Amino acid sequence: MAENKEIKIFSDAQELAEAFASELYHMVKSSRQRFDIALSGGSTPKLLFDVLASTYAEKMPWDRIHFWWGDERCVPPTSEESNYGMTQKHLLSKIVMSESQVHRVKGELAPDDAANDYIREIQSHLNERADWPVFDLIILGMGDDGHTASIFPHELELLHSPKICEVATHPDSGQKRVSLTGKVINNANRVYFLVSGKSKAKRISEIMNNKQKASKLPTFYIEPKHGQIIFFLDEEAASEIA
Ligand code: 6PG
Repeated sequence: MAENKEIKIFSDAQELAEAFASELYHMVKSSRQRFDIALSGGSTPKLLFDVLASTYAEKMPWDRIHFWWGDERCVPPTSEESNYGMTQKHLLSKIVMSESQVHRVKGELAPDDAANDYIREIQSHLNERADWPVFDLIILGMGDDGHTASIFPHELELLHSPKICEVATHPDSGQKRVSLTGKVINNANRVYFLVSGKSKAKRISEIMNNKQKASKLPTFYIEPKHGQIIFFLDEEAASEIA
């Protein structure tokens, strides 16, 4: 795990979402550049998106932000399972942002077609460093099993894939996913983990304090070579860090 990792702990999920939103706002506000931000999926970002949609709808320079996703479920955008759909409901439908700034994974396509389509979209929009695309910020969650994006413990090879994104398989449901791979994530300028809840505490403590156990966990291998890594946690998720 990266030595330069920073850990920020907040009292609960609401304070965590507010602090994260404020960090995003100042990051974008304090520069003139375009920001390509890959969003996390699952349930944890919903509170963050609600805060962004309420407190920052008018003041965030949305015109300089392009949204991407770290991973997507291979379902239509209207599905309850869709990460894009969740973001549309909690954020995109409540802010002013043109469609050309929203680069979703087309989960309705066949998984390989969706992955290849997303690779093309990334290659035609993002700058490169060392022949890999550069995201300004990748927001990641972590599953109770230590997975991140859709890189699961049974598919650790996705961390070293030569491709920008790959089709992954959820270990329990068998659901197909499209996920950014390890080399893209570790090429980002910033990787911010947004993790909350008691169910994440065991894996967070392993990642922070137990190299041997953490070596099976995809999250352990996220260490941006040229960038910053910050774990934004609530007290429950941080409750077992030694
Ligand atoms: C997804 C995610 C995944 C998520 C974790 C945590 O599509 O499910 O991107 O990596 O971040 O599974 O999910 P929760 O926030 O729901 O606990």
